[in-house]
Amino acid sequence: MRRLETVAALHEWRRDLGGSLGLVPTMGFLHEGHLSLVRRARGENDMLAVTVFVNPTQFGPREDFARYPRDLPRDLGLLEREAVDLVFVPDPQEIYPEGFQTYVTVPELSERWEGASRPGHFRGVATVVAKLFVLFRPERAYFGQKDYQQLQVIRRLARDLGFPLTVVPCPIVREPDGLALSSRNSYLSPAERQAATVLFRALQAGEAAYRAGERSGHRLQAVVKEVLAQEPLAKPDYVAVADPETLEELDEVGARGAVFCLAVWIGATRLIDNCLLARP
Ligand code: PAF
Repeated sequence: MRRLETVAALHEWRRDLGGSLGLVPTMGFLHEGHLSLVRRARGENDMLAVTVFVNPTQFGPREDFARYPRDLPRDLGLLEREAVDLVFVPDPQEIYPEGFQTYVTVPELSERWEGASRPGHFRGVATVVAKLFVLFRPERAYFGQKDYQQLQVIRRLARDLGFPLTVVPCPIVREPDGLALSSRNSYLSPAERQAATVLFRALQAGEAAYRAGERSGHRLQAVVKEVLAQEPLAKPDYVAVADPETLEELDEVGARGAVFCLAVWIGATRLIDNCLLARP
C-alpha cells in the first residue's frame, strides 16, 4: 500500500495508472462502516484509493473539528489489511492552498435539515468531494447511506458538474443493538451509548407505522418523536419525513416513498441516522 501526502505525488501516481479506480473518501478513525465501503470498492475495481482527511471546511466554528477523533496508525493498519493500493493523507494546505476561494455549493439540497443546523457544512463537503473527484478521476466513488443528505448532495454535484463516475451508495452498518456506526460514537459515555439506541428504535417505530399504512408525513413524524421523547438523554434536533431525492418535507408519502432523517443530541454529542422507505 502506498501512502501519499501531496497533490504533486498523487498526480504522478494517477498518470501511470491503468484499469478502473475506486475511491473511498473518509475522515479516518475507521470503523466497520468505512471498511464495508472499502471491501465493496475492492471487489469492484482494479485499483483502490482511500483518502483520510478531516476536512476543516465542513465544520462550523463551534463544532468538533479540533477534537474529531483521529488515529492514523490504526487506520493505516486496517487499510493495509484490506489490500488498499493507495492511501492519500493530505495536509489541509494541499487541499486548500494559500488564497483558496473557490467553493462548490448545491444550494437547495444543502439548506434543509442537516444544512439548516450546520450552516456551510455541505459547502465544505461538496468542495472537498469535487476536489477529490478532480484529483483522482475515479470510475466509482463510495459513500455510506448513514449520511443520507450528504449522499444526495454528492449525487447532485456529480450529475451537475458532469463527473464521469458512478456514486455508489453503501448500506448503513449497525451495532447489534441498532446504533449506526459513527466515529462520533466514541464521544458517548456508557449511559449515553445506551441512550443512543433510541434513534434506531424511533426509526423502526416510524417504519412500522408506514408499513401499517400510515401515509401522513405529520403523523409519521409524531410516531418517531414520541419514541425519542421516552429517552431523557435524547434531545431531537430535527425529525424529517422527506422526499428521498429532493429531501423536501412531505405532507403525504406518495409513490416515491420517503426517507426518515433524524439528528438527535445525546448529551453533548449530535448523532444522525435515517431509514429509507419505499412502497413494498
Ligand atoms: O462522510 C465523510 O466522512 C465526509 O463528509 C467526506 C465525504 C469524507 C468528506 O469530507
